[in-house]
Amino acid sequence: MTSPGATIQRDSEGRLQHLITLEGLTRDEITGLLDLAEFYVRPPGELPARDQSLAGRTVANLFFEPSTRTRVSFEIAARRLGADVVNLDMQTSSRAKGETVLDTIYTLQAMHADILVMRDAEPGLPAFVAQHVAPHVCILNAGEAHLSHPTQGLLDALTVRQVKGDFSDLRILIAGDIAHSRVARSAWQVFTTLGAREVRIAAPDDLMPAADEFPGASRYTSLDEAIEGVDVVMTLRIQRERMKRALFPDERTYHHEFGITAARMRKAKPDAIVMHPGPMNRDVEISSEVADGPQSVIQRQVTNGVAVRMAVLATMVRNVQARRRL
Ligand code: CP
Repeated sequence: MTSPGATIQRDSEGRLQHLITLEGLTRDEITGLLDLAEFYVRPPGELPARDQSLAGRTVANLFFEPSTRTRVSFEIAARRLGADVVNLDMQTSSRAKGETVLDTIYTLQAMHADILVMRDAEPGLPAFVAQHVAPHVCILNAGEAHLSHPTQGLLDALTVRQVKGDFSDLRILIAGDIAHSRVARSAWQVFTTLGAREVRIAAPDDLMPAADEFPGASRYTSLDEAIEGVDVVMTLRIQRERMKRALFPDERTYHHEFGITAARMRKAKPDAIVMHPGPMNRDVEISSEVADGPQSVIQRQVTNGVAVRMAVLATMVRNVQARRRL
């Protein structure tokens, strides 16, 4: 069944007005976003790419859950495209006085905020808000409960594409706390749409998603079996904040059973890459030796995050302009 966000995020012409989920995006749409992101990528140390695609626009960051990478990279991306940026401090905003999310959104809209970047623990909130904003306003989902983190999925896909090229030969493993991970869901969507040969998910029983989720993915409860011969290993943080009760043993036991270690990496292909969306819990889901080792592309993921968010912001504004010309 299609999620409401997949429909709501498109305008009457079928263009993306919002980015709520990667569900329903075509291969061409994803490739177009990745190509534009590639145009904006610069290695650390070089001057960053800049243009004026967002000149005169205002981007507001509304993060109701903690974030370092996503919030900062959206801010950097918007500034590099010439936008004004507002970061709402949710601890000191009027939401602490009982204002509803919608009233907060209407307040920002009345101040000419054009693009609202939202992270929240409540499933469905980005789609709900998207249904209530003016036609020129875009909602960008920067992390929705355990469901969706579309720009993370895009930056993960860009990173894999840069190192491995075509997806059709790739066996990709996503390992760890899959049940609670929006990163895993968006990564599975984008890797599947781009034609990965196989997507494997590996988790202890208690952290495995429901049987009707991740259709087509191969499921493993043994990491040692799942990692055999893969090209890409993506591991995930344990999302304690989404658990109603303790669902895994102590960290040492988890690391022993489900940690990505140098010994385990020897079971993957010799040129396999290791990914992690961050923040990492070192020596829990990944050893420091692997996280900082030659197969790790974790810092490259972070660099790509800015370029991907520039591409998404520029595309949304281009789509608003196209609607206005109709
Ligand atoms: N990957 C990710 O979403 O990181 P942050 O929580 O730091 O934004």
